[in-house]
Amino acid sequence: MMILLTVFLAATTQDAPPTPPGEEAVAPYRVAPSNAGAQPFSGERMARDFGGQAGIRRIVDSFVAANFADPHIGEIFRNQDAVRLRRVIFEQFCYILNAGCRYTGRDMRTAHTNMGVQQADMNRLVENLQRAMTAERVPFVAQNRFLAKLAPMRGEVVQR
Ligand code: HEM
Repeated sequence: MMILLTVFLAATTQDAPPTPPGEEAVAPYRVAPSNAGAQPFSGERMARDFGGQAGIRRIVDSFVAANFADPHIGEIFRNQDAVRLRRVIFEQFCYILNAGCRYTGRDMRTAHTNMGVQQADMNRLVENLQRAMTAERVPFVAQNRFLAKLAPMRGEVVQR
């Protein structure tokens, strides 16, 4: 009986990674590359255009800071875990840009559920991302290729 129970638990227990120091715990979830919401680019071009992991890190840090400080959407971010957000959004961008990362965060529907995000909020967030990419001198074509990868996630993020 004990063995059966152990096997059952092993099969059903969610394998969310342990909470890193400085982050708040989240409800258990299963880690999967598909949680990132998009297939990664192939080849190294996009990663190079984004300045590699160091460039992506700077973009994510200023993008996340801009969202928290934003007069329109900052309210949605208030009281959220900025440390975790910086980490998992970095992982997501780095993974999609094929810059050598694994995404360990939640899927987009779970992460944005009951948040009440509207299309206008999404537009605002995209503008913040565009500014962060431009500040890092990501070529315009590469910016748009990346945004086109994120666009289909709208259905999982925006509530109607
Ligand atoms: C394509 C667009 C978007 C992408 C790629 C994206 C990506 C992410 C990722 C990777 C996470 C973290 C998941 C995790 O913690 O496991 C997250 C969480 C979050 N996102 Fe988004 N997001 C998008 C749109 C938005 C928009 C439009 C808003 C609001 C204006 C928003 C607000 C938030 C907030 C507040 C969290 C924290 C949720 C929590 O910790 O419980 N996101 N997002």
